[in-house]
Amino acid sequence: MKTLNIIGAGRVGQTLGRLWQQSDVFTVQDVLTNSSDSAQAACGLMGAGIPVTQMAQMRSADVWMLAVPDAQIAVVAETLAAHQPAAPTSGPPIVFHCSGAQSSASLALLAALGWHTASAHCILSFASAELAIQQFPGTACALEGDTSAIAVLHSAFTAIHARCFEVASEDKLLYHAAAVFATNFLPVIQSVAEDAWLAAGVPEDLIPGLRSSLLNNAVANITRLGPAGALTGPAARGDVAAITRQAKAVTQWDAKAGAAYEALSALALRLAKAKTETSPTAASKY
Ligand SMILES: NC(=O)c1ccc[n+]([C@@H]2O[C@H](COP(=O)([O-])OP(=O)(O)OC[C@H]3O[C@@H](n4cnc5c(N)ncnc54)[C@H](OP(=O)(O)O)[C@@H]3O)[C@@H](O)[C@H]2O)c1
Repeated sequence: MKTLNIIGAGRVGQTLGRLWQQSDVFTVQDVLTNSSDSAQAACGLMGAGIPVTQMAQMRSADVWMLAVPDAQIAVVAETLAAHQPAAPTSGPPIVFHCSGAQSSASLALLAALGWHTASAHCILSFASAELAIQQFPGTACALEGDTSAIAVLHSAFTAIHARCFEVASEDKLLYHAAAVFATNFLPVIQSVAEDAWLAAGVPEDLIPGLRSSLLNNAVANITRLGPAGALTGPAARGDVAAITRQAKAVTQWDAKAGAAYEALSALALRLAKAKTETSPTAASKY
């Protein structure tokens, strides 16, 4: 079985380490974190691994996972390149990080030494390792990097029931920005809506109910009908005059919210137009 060294064993590192160990995909070998206590706790949860306190203590391994925070990836890669652990007998080692926003280019110093480099981003909110271990099967996983590394990671992630797909290095930023649109902007937009309601005199005690019913209905409609099918409001009706008047009112209240209203309305009109072109009878129903 291939050996796996882990640098950074928090939510993602522990989850993957545990799943790979218990599925006999990799043998978790040496585990390095910031503190010896957290490395020890991680090995306990994974049921495998030797906690170490310095990179110099790490033995050669077939695969290295850097599951450190994004800001630490390049720093750790630089230290690893300077440390130059011996190559395993099976050939050049594979090293990958788990960031969605960075590509394998962050590991360029190791690639220059002949290592196979990749990134593997699992589209799951790893709230805690204990929860993520249960939730992981079926998780989509974006692989990017060199062909040999992707081949090994594809079979390793598939063995723990991830659904792998490849993203080109040059598309990694756009790929991750899409996830920001899909999830991170939702609370932002909701907070603008709630502030605007309050500014317009909507009673504060009605806000939680509005939040819950509108969001629940939107999620049900989008998952059932798709984004275009679920679109309602002035853009769905093609009511450009109403959009212009509302954009002005929002801008007077808050300039940044007004700019967002205009940009999102332009995208909403584009979505409504695409829907009308594919299904002409759908226009002006909403
Ligand atoms: N959380 C998510 O939902 C999620 C989802 C997909 C991808 N990711 C990606 O997965 C990666 C890890 O995220 P995470 O959420 O698992 O982070 P995390 O829970 O904060 O864990 C980070 C781990 O890295 C260790 N660490 C930090 N700096 C280090 C250094 N210089 N050297 C060695 N170890 C170091 C920490 O050790 P200590 O505990 O001792 O400080 C900890 O074990 C990131 O690239 C992130 O973008 C996260």
